Amino acid sequence: MMKSKLIHVLIVALAVHVISARVMCPSHPNCVCGGTFAVELNCNIDGRTVKINLLPSTYITIKCENATSLDYSKLPKCANESNAFKSVSFKDCPLPKTSFKDILSKIGVSKTMSLIFQNAKKLSGHFNRKHFSGLQDLTKLLLSVNGITYLPDNLFMDLNNLTWLNIRCNNIILSEELFKPFERLETLEISHNHMTNMTSNLFSHLSLLRKLSLWQTNVTWFSKDFFTGVDVLEELDLSSNGLNELPMTIFKPLRKLKKLTLFSNKFSTLPQNLFSTNDKLETVIILNNDVKMKELPKNLFGNLSNLKQVYVQRSGIEVIPYDIFVNSPLITNISLAYNDIAVVPESTFNDQINLLELDLSHNNLRSLESKLFSSLVRLEILNLCHNSIEEVSSATFSSLLSLIYLNMEHNNLKTISSDLFSNNKQRMSITFAYNRLDFENKELKNNSWALTRVSPFAHTYNLKMLNLSHNKFKFSFEDWWINGHENLDISFNSIHYLWGNPKNSLEDGKSSYEELLKKPLKEVWISNNPLNCRCKNFLFVDFLKNNLKSKVLDDTLIHCPIWTKEACYLRFIIFISIMTASVSLSTITIILYFVYKKKINSVIKKRFQFYSKSDTNTDQYKNVIVKYSENDEEFVYKEILPELKNHKNFKVQLKLIKTNCKENFIKNFTNRSKEGDTVLIIFSPNYLTSAYSHVNIKKIRGEMLKTKNTLYVFTDIGPENSIYAFLKEQRDQRTAILWSDPNFWNVLISMLSNGYKKKVRFSSGNDVRSKLNTSLSSSKSKLVSNKSFTRLPEWPDVYTSNTFAHSQV
Ligand SMILES: *[C@@H]1O[C@H](CO)[C@@H](O)[C@H](O)[C@H]1NC(C)=O
Ligand SMILES: *[C@@H]1O[C@H](CO)[C@@H](O)[C@H](O)[C@H]1NC(C)=O
Ligand SMILES: *[C@@H]1O[C@H](CO)[C@@H](O)[C@H](O)[C@H]1NC(C)=O
Ligand SMILES: *[C@@H]1O[C@H](CO)[C@@H](O)[C@H](O)[C@H]1NC(C)=O
Ligand SMILES: *[C@@H]1O[C@H](CO)[C@@H](O)[C@H](O)[C@H]1NC(C)=O
Ligand SMILES: *[C@@H]1O[C@H](CO)[C@@H](O)[C@H](O)[C@H]1NC(C)=O
Ligand SMILES: *[C@@H]1O[C@H](CO)[C@@H](O)[C@H](O)[C@H]1NC(C)=O
Ligand SMILES: *[C@@H]1O[C@H](CO)[C@@H](O)[C@H](O)[C@H]1NC(C)=O
Ligand SMILES: *[C@@H]1O[C@H](CO)[C@@H](O)[C@H](O)[C@H]1NC(C)=O
Repeated sequence: MMKSKLIHVLIVALAVHVISARVMCPSHPNCVCGGTFAVELNCNIDGRTVKINLLPSTYITIKCENATSLDYSKLPKCANESNAFKSVSFKDCPLPKTSFKDILSKIGVSKTMSLIFQNAKKLSGHFNRKHFSGLQDLTKLLLSVNGITYLPDNLFMDLNNLTWLNIRCNNIILSEELFKPFERLETLEISHNHMTNMTSNLFSHLSLLRKLSLWQTNVTWFSKDFFTGVDVLEELDLSSNGLNELPMTIFKPLRKLKKLTLFSNKFSTLPQNLFSTNDKLETVIILNNDVKMKELPKNLFGNLSNLKQVYVQRSGIEVIPYDIFVNSPLITNISLAYNDIAVVPESTFNDQINLLELDLSHNNLRSLESKLFSSLVRLEILNLCHNSIEEVSSATFSSLLSLIYLNMEHNNLKTISSDLFSNNKQRMSITFAYNRLDFENKELKNNSWALTRVSPFAHTYNLKMLNLSHNKFKFSFEDWWINGHENLDISFNSIHYLWGNPKNSLEDGKSSYEELLKKPLKEVWISNNPLNCRCKNFLFVDFLKNNLKSKVLDDTLIHCPIWTKEACYLRFIIFISIMTASVSLSTITIILYFVYKKKINSVIKKRFQFYSKSDTNTDQYKNVIVKYSENDEEFVYKEILPELKNHKNFKVQLKLIKTNCKENFIKNFTNRSKEGDTVLIIFSPNYLTSAYSHVNIKKIRGEMLKTKNTLYVFTDIGPENSIYAFLKEQRDQRTAILWSDPNFWNVLISMLSNGYKKKVRFSSGNDVRSKLNTSLSSSKSKLVSNKSFTRLPEWPDVYTSNTFAHSQV
């Protein structure tokens, strides 16, 4: 956009340059033509440098360098006869001997709207009427000259059509007559002149005058009818005069006056009802009054139905009358800044329902009346900075529904008594910098002081800016971070922790960060706080920077040793790693448990059994299945069962093997129902014939060796049997016991209890056992005698397992 505009200008300028250069440059031997944007002619006229800039139909500027005299007739012709310009300027050129009209004709200017003649150096000579003769076309004239002290009364006689006149001549005494010809004058600016004693009626004939500036004209006194006849004046500037008083009725004729400017005067007071007739007044500016005014008159700006802006600054005002703005309801801007106002009466702004901006800054206000702003429902900007206000309550601001900017910097604020701006819908900027705020209130409760920390902004949301810098905060308040503000400045306080109170643990802080995510702050200023080099702060600042993309302007944590920050993250990492490690460890354990559940169970069981086996009094039962041939039933019932039943930890089951169901038995024999059971086989010739009548001997023995948890009791009951004798001879000592063994019961019981594979140790002098032995042997011997058990002869060597390999029983 800018670029294309620039290019456009360049092209136009270039085109203009080309055209004008073609037309004018070669035409004068004294001048060198150049220039980029406009025609620039460097002329040497009798050794004097004259620079001419021009844009055809627009302007010509003739600048004389170091010329105390100049032959204007030697200037080059810059334009055609017919060429009209908007303005022609002469800068630092000497007074011409001819009229300006002649000079203009010489350089080809047929007509110009404005003529500007400026000379900052001391001009010699005098103006006279002929200089301006023939310029009836002229509508604007600026004369800004030094060194001239006198202007003849008839100087402007031929400038009847002038509408704009600006005379800046130092120390010229202006006469009444001088302005006579300017009947069409609309704007008159007279500055830097000497008009010490302004006589009346000076401008009375200027009936079209709309703008009058008597800026710095050393006017010190006006007659009361000075403006009589200046009926349509709209703007009046009397700035920088030595005015110390104004006649009460001086502005009376100015019924159209809209703007009055009174910079830098010396009023000690202003008259009552000064503006009583200036109903059209819109703007009044009273600035930099060099004398302390102290008091403004009652109702000064009252009853002005068009008044919009009032500025009374740096005027030493101390007292504001309560009715100063009364009945002037259109005022939008009021500034009473840079005065010494201590009290603003509560009703001062009662009628200012349209006020948009109020500036009471740089005064001596100590408090604010609670209803002072109650009418200002449209107020957008309120500036109360640089006062001495100590306390405000939300009631003071509660009517300010449109407020978008509140400045209370540089006060003595210690207390804000309640919630501020909870109803405000604007994105406000609020600054309370340079106060004594800490939001800590001491309250007398039950005769003891209780400290409460309450933020008056707890219910204030979506601020554009909250500036609390340069206060006395020791603690940070959560609402600063989570209420959706855009910018937060809490620099230059005494805050140690940015988030939460110091007792909160790291994790507590983290979890509540979520609140911050809703509407992240854009910029945060936290510098110059004594922030602790603690994880809480590091993590919080990093959270702001990384997660919220907030711009954190801070140099506070930089001073912390680098390790504090690293350690903080390390601590976190360690915490996380430990957590992770323990979680995975327990997961693995659980998985392993389920995978190896059975194994572990059995290992544990075995272990447990191992330790419990030596203890015969354990509750653990052992199933003992007694297998016997039906022919041996009597023996089992008489001899085996009673003794086994004496041992409480054995559960005895009986299993009778019938002669005709041996196959079934074998099957049963190998696939025993339960693992922990022990099978006690009463192995006798009877049993052998019942169970193995048609099985070969090798298979029987193999079977006997293979079977687990099975004990064999060799009882020699029944008919003599060589195979039985062989098996008895070749028995496995670990699983077989002889009924004839005198220690039979001890051996059997310990075998059943400890597991037959374990070695059995006996202590020989055991009373219980020996007693048992005697009782057993008696009963045994009885049975033996009854049944005449006989010892079988030695089994021949040929019946070794090897030789039996091919033989059948
Ligand atoms: C102006 O002219 C005077 C005398 O003619 C000379 O002394 C002075 O140096 C000149 N100044 C410039 C800036 O040319
Ligand atoms: C200036 O006058 C010359 C003839 O005198 C004419 O050719 C030229 O077009 C004129 N230029 C302008 C810009 O009027
Ligand atoms: C100056 O004003 C008079 C009166 O209105 C008018 O007749 C005349 O044409 C004007 N002169 C010029 C050059 O405009
Ligand atoms: C100003 O004029 C008034 C009346 O014309 C006269 O009384 C007063 O002395 C004059 N003051 C000065 C400073 O000339
Ligand atoms: C006009 O006032 C200025 C300062 O206000 C002062 O310096 C100057 O001398 C005064 N001029 C006259 C002619 O009194
Ligand atoms: C303001 O104007 C009203 C009527 O327009 C008038 O009654 C009242 O006296 C005026 N007040 C002042 C102080 O001039
Ligand atoms: C008056 O106040 C409004 C609102 O603050 C502002 O936009 C405007 O610029 C002010 N006007 C002046 C002349 O300062
Ligand atoms: C004050 O003390 C009374 C009884 O001692 C108790 O009931 C009351 O709650 C207390 N008030 C406060 C604000 O602590
Ligand atoms: C807050 O106010 C102080 C004092 O006026 C100022 O220096 C600072 O720049 C402000 N902060 C922001 C972020 O504008």
